[in-house]
Amino acid sequence: MSSGSAGSVRIPPEYSRAVAEVEASEPIHEITPHRFTHRPPEGRALLGLRSMLRGRRRALLPCAAAIMIEALTLQAGPFLTQIVIDHGVLPHRAAIVVLGGALYLGSVLLCGVMSGVRTRMSGRLAADVMSALRTEVFAHLQRQSLSFYTREKDGVMMTRMTSDVEALQQLIQEALGMFGVQLLTMLVAGTVLFVYNAALAAITLAAVLPILGALSVWYQRSSDRRYERVRDTLADVLSDLQESLHGARTVITHNRARHNVLHHRNVLGRYQDANHAVATANGIYAGATQGVAILGQAALLLLGGEMVIHHHLTLGEFGAFILYLGTFFAPIQQITVLYSLYQQARASILKLRALLRESPEVLEAPEPVVLGAIAGEVELHDVTFGYEPAAPVLSHVNLHISAGETIAFVGPTGAGKSTISKLLCRFYDPQCGAVRVDGVDLRQVELASLRRQVGVVPQEPYLFVGTIAHNIAFGRPSASEAEVRRAAELAGLGPLIKRLPRGLDTIVQERGQSLAAGERQLLALARAFLIDPRVLVLDEATSNLDLRSEQRIEDALDLLLRDRTAIVVAHRLSTAMRADRIAVIADGTIAEVGTHSELLEAGGRYAAMHAIWQLHAV
Ligand SMILES: Nc1ncnc2c1ncn2[C@@H]1O[C@H](COP(=O)(O)OP(=O)(O)OP(=O)(O)O)[C@@H](O)[C@H]1O
Ligand SMILES: [Mg+2]
Repeated sequence: MSSGSAGSVRIPPEYSRAVAEVEASEPIHEITPHRFTHRPPEGRALLGLRSMLRGRRRALLPCAAAIMIEALTLQAGPFLTQIVIDHGVLPHRAAIVVLGGALYLGSVLLCGVMSGVRTRMSGRLAADVMSALRTEVFAHLQRQSLSFYTREKDGVMMTRMTSDVEALQQLIQEALGMFGVQLLTMLVAGTVLFVYNAALAAITLAAVLPILGALSVWYQRSSDRRYERVRDTLADVLSDLQESLHGARTVITHNRARHNVLHHRNVLGRYQDANHAVATANGIYAGATQGVAILGQAALLLLGGEMVIHHHLTLGEFGAFILYLGTFFAPIQQITVLYSLYQQARASILKLRALLRESPEVLEAPEPVVLGAIAGEVELHDVTFGYEPAAPVLSHVNLHISAGETIAFVGPTGAGKSTISKLLCRFYDPQCGAVRVDGVDLRQVELASLRRQVGVVPQEPYLFVGTIAHNIAFGRPSASEAEVRRAAELAGLGPLIKRLPRGLDTIVQERGQSLAAGERQLLALARAFLIDPRVLVLDEATSNLDLRSEQRIEDALDLLLRDRTAIVVAHRLSTAMRADRIAVIADGTIAEVGTHSELLEAGGRYAAMHAIWQLHAV
């Protein structure tokens, strides 16, 4: 936060040195190559290993070099063994034996160093790539429309951002380098086998390679499906966990704890089954490849032994051949493990790709109109909208609100009052017709410039973990402490802040659970005071207040609504009556609109509501 913001203003002077020290030692990763836009970047390459590693040559090249040197030094052992046996041990030449031993030691050391370099470089590479990917996915989530969040489960999104990204990280960090080493080892060992004795190598490999190939094809196909299921069931586990955490109070009230444990056990069971299926496939593949390797060794012993007896092969060569064949087969076991890491990562990439393909339903126009300071004229022109297009919530709604006017929406529950307020902020686009502010269709405007000037105090405001001051300054973090305090006072938060020992600095718990529902609404009102939008929508913003508290902030509300366009959704007619005009929303349309006295005179729905209200008010 910048100095002068609501948060840092109150850092006591005795801590300022410590803060400066922390700031100096901990880099702030604010400046990333990522520039946030509401429109997804065009022509983005499909998420894949190649696109993730693109442009990271500086880390990739040393990695590749280390892999090659490591693979080559791994081959030195069998070669030196052959030299030492044939030219040192058999002719009794001690110098060759010592030299061979020393070279072997050197090669092992070099191999160790290269393995260290590879591990470090690939670890860094993985961390960098994942950080970039996480930022990209996070930004992508930030630009999604409200409908996306209604549709998708939080738990699934958490899985994408945690375990799916981690699967990829593991692949880059551990598997890719190792895979490179093992593959090169197999290639080099295979070539050397042919150089030593082409016939022997051909026969041995011909016995095993076809079986190995068939096994690999089977494994790839079957584990693809199995890993995908692991990812899906894990997302279910997290979703279920998330729901039970959020709904803890309801769960306790309704005695559902036991049922929830059973349900979670079932969800976990499906995850467990998916993991079992993977383990089975891995077991079959690992066991079978091991068997094939032994088959190859047996074939070699038989044929090679025969050749040594008939002097077609020296004893040293035979020894080296056995060792090289071991070197050739050893990576297969490793590769099985790496391959399963690859398959896991593949399943994750497919999931993340699907997520990144989600296009926000509310798309900013390619060249949007940046709204300057607006007068605040609002128009709904023949608006038809439904969350499901087939089931419209609003049909052919026409409404003109003049700049500076206060209009109240009344009407039965589920009539579409909140829906209209969501359309005004362009959380959704109408299926037909248009919503216009100062005559500009919202589909054409730049979203940031719209939302700076059209503010909503929602029916259920969301509070973030942090101080009350931070929450009030959420829409304008640059506000000074005095401004925050004034907004809080105006919204009627004064008594609460006085009562709390830490005042504005009191920490609000997650989702504002430590505050009363009415206090949360007042805090949301304070937010609106501070943002000072040209068009303000209050969606039942005072519905949770008792009558006295509501009356207490009435003056403040009048002040808040003065000189700006205001739409006040209210069930209480006492609130609605103070507006310039009242619109009755019913049956998906505007049933009546007019001033309080006009509507009373008309004797329609509003008059009936008013009669009932008066009956109860007396
Ligand atoms: N995200 C959503 N997805 C699908 N349907 C929705 C969604 N939000 C609201 N609805 C439906 O749209 C209709 C209008 O809802 P809306 O929230 O606008 O009602 P309202 O007039 O604000 O009611 P209340 O006075 O109770 O707040 C309701 O039938 C509701 O079930
Ligand atoms: Mg509502």
